[in-house]
Amino acid sequence: MVMRPALINVMAKAAEKAGKGLSRDFGEVEHLQVSRKGPADFVSNADIKAQKILREELTKARPTFGFLGEEDDGEADTSGKAERWIIDPLDGTTNFLHGVPHWCISIAAEKAGEVIAGLIYNPITDETFWAERGLGAYCSNKRLRVSGRKDLSECLIATGLPFKGSKKNDAKVMKELAAVMPKVAGIRRAGSAALDMAYVAAGRFDGYWEEGLGIWDIAAGYIIVKEAGGFVSPMVKGGNPVKDAALIATNAEIHDKIVKLVRAA
Ligand code: IPD
Ligand code: CA
Repeated sequence: MVMRPALINVMAKAAEKAGKGLSRDFGEVEHLQVSRKGPADFVSNADIKAQKILREELTKARPTFGFLGEEDDGEADTSGKAERWIIDPLDGTTNFLHGVPHWCISIAAEKAGEVIAGLIYNPITDETFWAERGLGAYCSNKRLRVSGRKDLSECLIATGLPFKGSKKNDAKVMKELAAVMPKVAGIRRAGSAALDMAYVAAGRFDGYWEEGLGIWDIAAGYIIVKEAGGFVSPMVKGGNPVKDAALIATNAEIHDKIVKLVRAA
């Protein structure tokens, strides 16, 4: 049984509390599909409620930390703080809205501009992916390691496709797909950037790339992949994968190949 560090315990407790509310709301969403307007407002409220719970719990446990959340609830506070939380209360919102059980809560802790810990909680499968710098990555109590596949033709690669209103360069993404797709065993667009990263760390996906994200989508996943032995590079050479929120994350074996394909597209 692995001893979870104090910071991870704080994150896990907050995620479980917010996850309970989201799971309850997810149960309701199914019933709302038939209404003409659909469950959009309901889901946006669920998202905001989850962020509120996370902010309260995390700030109570670490009052000196700043806070950056995806939902602008008017209380983002990161000014002059050495440490801050970076959270996505509901990653995979479109899945959630459609009753697809693939979404999560993502929490990262940053210190002096570097991600030092991350936790991704999937309330549906009850999986908690977590990592703290230098301590390795875990799923619940099991050590996580990226896959060892070397041959691209055997690799399952995840990405994120553009959608109406997304901050992605549609033409560029199509070129990237055209470059990677014919060389690999399969491409997945599962709909949660945070879970895509967690799955790379767990060796379920061999790699993942995406651009046009928010820092909250990938901050936790970044450290979890790295601590599981994976490599993470910025989409653009010389960039910063977390701050740019545009990255390529893979196992150690195929990294150079995928980076080359995606960057050249
Ligand atoms: C989205 C998901 C998705 C990615 C989008 C994100 P949201 O986050 O992570 O996989 O492709 O770019 O915005 O809206 O579900 O929190
Ligand atoms: Ca998100």
